[in-house]
Amino acid sequence: MRFGHFDDANREYVITTPKTPYPWINYLGTERFFSLISHQAGGYCFYRDARLRRLTRYRYNNTPTDAGGRIFYIREENGEYWCPSFMPVKKKLDRFECRHGLGTTKITGERGGVRAELLFFVPLGQTAEVHRVRLTNLGDRPRRLKLFSYVEWCLWNAHDDTTNFQRNFSTGEVEIDGSTLYHKTEYRERRNHYAFYHVNEKVSGFDTDRESFLGLYNGAHEPDAVARGESKNSVASGWAPIASHSLDVELAPGESKTFVFVLGYVENPPDAKWEKPGIIDKRRARELISAFATPEQVNQALDALRRYWDGLLGVYRLDSPDEKLNRMVNVWNQYQCMVTFNMSRSASYFETGIGRGMGFRDSNQDLLGFVHMVPERARERILDIAATQFPDGSAYHQYQPLTKRGNNEVGSGFNDDPLWLILGVAAYLKESGDWAFLNESVPFDNDPKRAAPLLEHLRRSFHHVLENLGPHGLPLIGRADWNDCLNLNCFSETPDESFQTTGNREGRTAESIFIAGMFVAIGPEYAELLERSGHAAEAAEARKHVARMERAVLEHGWDGEWFLRAYDFFGNKVGSRDNAEAQIFIEPQGYCVMAGIGVKEGLAQRALDAVKERLDTRYGIVLNNPPFTRYHVELGEISSYPPGYKENAGIFCHNNPWIMIAETVVGRGDRAFEYYKKIAPAYLEEISEIHRTEPYVYAQMIAGKDAVRHGEAKNSWLTGTAAWNFVAIAHHLLGVRPEYDGLRVSPCLGKELSEFSVTRRCRGATYRIRVTNRGGSTPRLKVGGKPIEGAIVPWAAAGQTVDVECEV
Ligand code: BGC
Ligand code: NOJ
Repeated sequence: MRFGHFDDANREYVITTPKTPYPWINYLGTERFFSLISHQAGGYCFYRDARLRRLTRYRYNNTPTDAGGRIFYIREENGEYWCPSFMPVKKKLDRFECRHGLGTTKITGERGGVRAELLFFVPLGQTAEVHRVRLTNLGDRPRRLKLFSYVEWCLWNAHDDTTNFQRNFSTGEVEIDGSTLYHKTEYRERRNHYAFYHVNEKVSGFDTDRESFLGLYNGAHEPDAVARGESKNSVASGWAPIASHSLDVELAPGESKTFVFVLGYVENPPDAKWEKPGIIDKRRARELISAFATPEQVNQALDALRRYWDGLLGVYRLDSPDEKLNRMVNVWNQYQCMVTFNMSRSASYFETGIGRGMGFRDSNQDLLGFVHMVPERARERILDIAATQFPDGSAYHQYQPLTKRGNNEVGSGFNDDPLWLILGVAAYLKESGDWAFLNESVPFDNDPKRAAPLLEHLRRSFHHVLENLGPHGLPLIGRADWNDCLNLNCFSETPDESFQTTGNREGRTAESIFIAGMFVAIGPEYAELLERSGHAAEAAEARKHVARMERAVLEHGWDGEWFLRAYDFFGNKVGSRDNAEAQIFIEPQGYCVMAGIGVKEGLAQRALDAVKERLDTRYGIVLNNPPFTRYHVELGEISSYPPGYKENAGIFCHNNPWIMIAETVVGRGDRAFEYYKKIAPAYLEEISEIHRTEPYVYAQMIAGKDAVRHGEAKNSWLTGTAAWNFVAIAHHLLGVRPEYDGLRVSPCLGKELSEFSVTRRCRGATYRIRVTNRGGSTPRLKVGGKPIEGAIVPWAAAGQTVDVECEV
């Protein structure tokens, strides 16, 4: 069942009922100021860091779900009131539509002859949400309406805001200046920032105190002020500061009126905070407000945002006969890659924005799907990430985006982390050719006194693996590898202990075949970087280590029909047919084959056949099988999940594309494309009632075959799934990806699409690639009509357009 449809021309998903199976959300903002917004305008916004600089409040795990956001109430002459976004008042609407687009959300509600269109976006370069509200009288009698706005302020630190009430209930402060309502909690002391909510019209009243506006025992569905038809003009002092305007709106038949609200964030220099004692200096706020004083200014900002996305999405464009594939590749997958790049795993409808900042491994992987759009931002991100590496090559697992400091609560010890940095840097260099990057000086552990060239960071990453090998010559797993839930040194018997940070045994025995696969896949990338930056001898040395690791995997990591997953603390096999539960895991099958291990021996094909036989389902490939049915103290969190969910045999969408890429490594494009279509959200639109999360973005997990609710997705948006599926489809199946000497064109996706074309911009030139596809995997290329050897189209000078024909 569908709950809307794609509007490809406008790059929007159009939701046609408020009653979607779960809140379907969008993100606003591109660089510093971000918002989450659901199809009913639920959600919140923050400046850079969802934990430390949150502007508005949102309550997770609430009933009804998705309560809290930007609320507009329309009060009719007879005292009835309703919300165009349906929630929270839930009065039946004559028409509802929500269009989630690229950085814009437009919600239209109609009732009793009044249309209200709410448009939300964060203009480029601004630290504000703009809410454009257009009311139209669709009937034939004049209307006298009242419009109320409502947002609830968060007291900045979202963690404190939800826990430290003994303080919070006394600190809230506001200021009122005509149609602008200021929130200035803690501005009197160490904060140099404040927020405001403004409307470009004279108000008939306002409220800044929640209890006055709603009534202490009322919810947002029955605000006292709206019911009475009059704001209370309340001035908050402590408790819960809010911002609500009321406006009298008279509309002749057919008439429309547009109001522009601005919800903004402002920082002042510490020595210029005050206009006079106790009164904030509002100049910067007024400047921001004046940029959106008229609907024309709003339209210009919208145009600029549209052009910005035209530019980004013009870098990789597919034209194929499969409209679902086109909309994934050209719009939604890339859009999600931008969002994961910006958010890492911090703020979604499944991540509170409090627990996690940017992840070391996550952000390195996220940029794989983003680097082509804005390479400079990927560059900057890599430098931030690398600065949280320790001198021994290990790394903080997470860091806060605001402070860029490593998160001590989580610490380090995830032994896959260092290798992802090499992969991220290689991706950036292939895209940009910016070799000077390797010489960029980057601190270790954010200490400028301990700075070294970026290449040195990669060296430490590589050697960190070599310095931490176990009894079989395979990498030690540490706290966990990519699979955060495989905690082989944890041994937790105590509830509330974190599986990831508790290490009850100091072991140097538990080894990961997955990290070994990574090492064999990413090691050659490192060797190539060395070689191309003038370190040939060191490169040769690195290749020897890679070859040795490959041998170790073949010797100790092959289980007979597939690759083993790990050796546990006691040296027992994990992911072996000798085990009663979890005999096979997906991760090593994907990464070892991507590394090319066992291809010439025919083992890779067998491992992938085992995946097909044991892990594949109609909704995607599960992580392991059979699932764990009881808690295994020696394995950790993975066995804490009920069978079929999350890392315990859920369809963990992040590693499905590894199998797709692996299938292309052994030339089986048909199978790769089949796997692709199983989890790509646009193909799941018709089963939205089962899938439940948004049909335009990937979710981290779809419940596996052993789960009670097989096919149901959770944790949409913030997942490495976005980047990896883009890499799989764009780079490997459609087969167009940058390499150091040119653009590789080597499609491998089976026979289904007999023709397609890809336009790729890279390093200033444009490549127009026409593919005639018979389902092979050895391409024949012509460049400018002339056949070339191999599959790499040499780089052209900036400004040139190159025509490429490919037969495969
Ligand atoms: C989840 C993992 C996640 C980890 C982060 C676990 O509960 O299952 O997917 O990576 O938490 O700490
Ligand atoms: C989600 C985490 O963000 C990611 O780092 C991890 O690799 C996966 N879960 C698998 O556990």
